[in-house]
Amino acid sequence: MSGHNVWTHKGTFLLAAVGSAVGLGNLWRFPYLTGENGGGAFILIYALTIFAVGIPIFIAETMLGRTSRQSPIMGMRHLTKTHKTSRAWESIGWLGAAAAFLILSFYSVIAGWALHYTWLMLTGSLVGADATTISAGFDALLASPGLMTLYHTLFIAFSALIVGLGIHKGIESGLRIMMPALFAILIVVLIYGVINGDVGAAANFLFTFNIADLSLEGWLQAVGQSFFTLSLGMGAIMAYGAYMSSEASLTRTAIAVAFVDTAIAMVAGLAIFSLVFGAGLETDQGPGLMFVTLPLAFADMPFGALVGGVFFILVLGAAISSSISLIEPVAAFLVERFDMTRPQAVTIMVVAAWAMGLLTVVSFNVWAEGTIFHALFERSAFEFIELLTNIFMPLGGLMIALFAGWALTQSEVMKELGTNITWFKTWRLLVRFVGPAAVSFVFLRTIPQVEGYVVPTLGALLIVGVFALSQRLRKSA
Ligand code: PHE
Repeated sequence: MSGHNVWTHKGTFLLAAVGSAVGLGNLWRFPYLTGENGGGAFILIYALTIFAVGIPIFIAETMLGRTSRQSPIMGMRHLTKTHKTSRAWESIGWLGAAAAFLILSFYSVIAGWALHYTWLMLTGSLVGADATTISAGFDALLASPGLMTLYHTLFIAFSALIVGLGIHKGIESGLRIMMPALFAILIVVLIYGVINGDVGAAANFLFTFNIADLSLEGWLQAVGQSFFTLSLGMGAIMAYGAYMSSEASLTRTAIAVAFVDTAIAMVAGLAIFSLVFGAGLETDQGPGLMFVTLPLAFADMPFGALVGGVFFILVLGAAISSSISLIEPVAAFLVERFDMTRPQAVTIMVVAAWAMGLLTVVSFNVWAEGTIFHALFERSAFEFIELLTNIFMPLGGLMIALFAGWALTQSEVMKELGTNITWFKTWRLLVRFVGPAAVSFVFLRTIPQVEGYVVPTLGALLIVGVFALSQRLRKSA
């Protein structure tokens, strides 16, 4: 492929990947999942998975992007040809595109809630409000399709604008302003939490673990969360990897992204739980932790409206730097494949995801029950879309690990990794076996009908099948 795009600086990929990784997953999902799953034990499993499974797959995904230098779909098409494997592996690209499209559709709606709360906080509307008022306010937002659509539209349009400006003028410049600001805000919120909240209780909650606290469900959620938070398995990292400088180290970059992403989740958790404990509130409020519990904590604190407003700006910025990474893989594909201009490609992706997002909007009100989704899948459209992405992401990660582990040749990988044979062997062991085994287990468990003893059995069968398949892959390589 001639004349491909490359980031302006050697370190830009790191910035872009951190921007993608740090998002609602860290600030909204991680704290509430930790809160629901009893704290430290959840974090222990989450951190272990990030390091043993997440980092190797992250390296694999970046490697596939960088060797092909194309968008995930076209890149996988190219690699299946050059490595004489089955065309079926191209589905890594297609699955990723589908997952990106679906995640963007609901991600934008939830980020829209943060827009609403930024407004409420900065206008001081919640100062001194009590629990009933605040939770009624959240319910009122969810009950209004019009309001939710408005915020959803604003959020997705802004993200589209950044990607539409191109990888240099849009994505790079946007991230260069946003990311440092986000770190600064997070530190401010942490300091605020330490002064006004109960940081001791928060630290105690987050860092003391009792493995018995953790249910099987929680264990599995921790693994799923570690994929979501690293943006793995759906092409975002592959698309950004295609622009990565050949000189940058894959291993060091992956470790840095995982480290920063985890650190931010911890700092956010520490800040949020300090405020929650300080205000004497409960930790297990689920998705409402950020939109009900936290505003309640801010309502009674000095400068709560201001710091709360700034906090929701942080949430918005983190969400934007992630949503642009959801638009990029599909937009880049449309440009490469159909010779579209970038603005055309971005418009198509975003308008489609916007329309799809309306399904999430109505899932909280007019279509909250009694729809075809409830009849067929016993869940709302939003929950169904979320379930699909919960299947696509691990499946994508599994296939990425296998393709990189078995189809790429040793010399190719050694050249990309640029390290010694020991690390090469360790990495290959991780992507050939450890990652796929862990992921297929989680993958099976996300199918609600599969429970109890069926899981290990099917899991084992799948792993064996996958192994056999991989052997064939290797011979043809
Ligand atoms: N990692 C992002 C977050 O934590 C979510 C995301 C997933 C972004 C997949 C891009 C791709 O919020």
